[in-house]
Amino acid sequence: MEVLRKAFSQKLDQALTEFVGSIDADEFLVEADIRGSIAHATMLAGGGLLTAAQADNIVGGLQTILDLYKAGAFKLNPAFEDVHMNVEKKLQELIGEDALRLHTARSRNDQVALDIRLYALGCIEANLNDINELVETIKVVAAENIDAILPGYTHLQRAQPVHFAHALLAFVEMLERDKARLQDLTKRVAVSPLGAGAQAGTGLNINPALSAKLLGMPSHFANSIDAVSDRDFVAEYLFVAAMCGVHLSQMAETFIIYASKEFSFISFSDAVTTASSLMPQKKNPDPVELIRGKCGSMVGELVNILVTLKGLPLGYNRDLQETKPPLIKTAKEIGNCLRVMTVVLQCLSVNKETTLKAAYDAEMISTDLVEYLVNKGVPFRKAHEDISALVAHARESGVPLNELSLSACQTFNQAFESDLFKLFDPKGSLQAKTSPGSTGTEQVKAALSKAAKI
Ligand code: ARG
Repeated sequence: MEVLRKAFSQKLDQALTEFVGSIDADEFLVEADIRGSIAHATMLAGGGLLTAAQADNIVGGLQTILDLYKAGAFKLNPAFEDVHMNVEKKLQELIGEDALRLHTARSRNDQVALDIRLYALGCIEANLNDINELVETIKVVAAENIDAILPGYTHLQRAQPVHFAHALLAFVEMLERDKARLQDLTKRVAVSPLGAGAQAGTGLNINPALSAKLLGMPSHFANSIDAVSDRDFVAEYLFVAAMCGVHLSQMAETFIIYASKEFSFISFSDAVTTASSLMPQKKNPDPVELIRGKCGSMVGELVNILVTLKGLPLGYNRDLQETKPPLIKTAKEIGNCLRVMTVVLQCLSVNKETTLKAAYDAEMISTDLVEYLVNKGVPFRKAHEDISALVAHARESGVPLNELSLSACQTFNQAFESDLFKLFDPKGSLQAKTSPGSTGTEQVKAALSKAAKI
């Protein structure tokens, strides 16, 4: 870079110019950088470090650069290393000498920390909107399919019947926690580092609280070294995004399994399936598979930033430049995944007859049989053993559990009466579940109406 090298006797080696720069990532930070500079200039004027006329000139010039950028007429030049020097150069070109005063009491170290924070705040807001859209869509699909019953699984083995809506609302809970994490993170991101300078602050008359206020940030840094060297908020964002990605990957995998011919619990419309180049009959759930797949890179970027930060000595280090691409990439990717999942949900239909048929697996009522005996006073562990033996007997004799005779059942436990056969109905099983948060029909309906009010 040609600027800032008066103390140097050589040009920066040509091969290094692009290497040290951060132009690709900084393309995403132009608006944040200009917003930060406008606040900084306004603050400088407040402390008498700029005259009102100089501040007006600078702010006007910055506004012009922003307009040019939005019109596609301001492109970052790699020769100027980063967004900060590009904006400063352009400002000089537009307004002349006053531009030389903008960087008063500021370093690129506090400047870039601010840019990343502003950018992250924008990502958080966009992610929250996308999560909200997805959650609303899940709730609609759950309510539309309140009558759909399917096997619930543990270890991917049939366990007990559940409402499809209950399964979907499980994902709502996960996404609501992702949302809460993002909201909580906001207060740690919205802390202005402006005024920290390179790392020591300044003797000039600045007012960090004013720049924070101008940027709509509720607080400013407490320690100038921490302000320039800390990127834990990026790591935290990447964790929250990766966790959300993991939730989406679990939802994706669940849907992929449900949509397989072997399960046939759900179908995707043609709008969200893709074709095979060889097999004409294929309709593949590629978008959902890609949600599952893209989560891998989100986890990778979280590890990336943690390893970049690990062992850095106190203060700004150029390694910190490498924290920008993971943030930018992950924020974009999680947004895409959330929006694609919303479309997938809108294009999904439940094959209710198939799911109900699968839910009629008599063995899935085994736990209900245990509870039946418990209600008759049999100790739980004894009831569990008796029903295990009954299930084994049914399997050995090749007679389904619900077709065994009452007397055969009574040889396993005397407490059985003829009403036992009424239990072999998944709908009845769901109606009978009353514990809070369970898949009981009334509980799920209550959860749905509660969710509708949020
Ligand atoms: N491009 C740098 C970054 O992204 C800006 C800060 C450079 N500071 C410095 N002292 N070289 O982190």
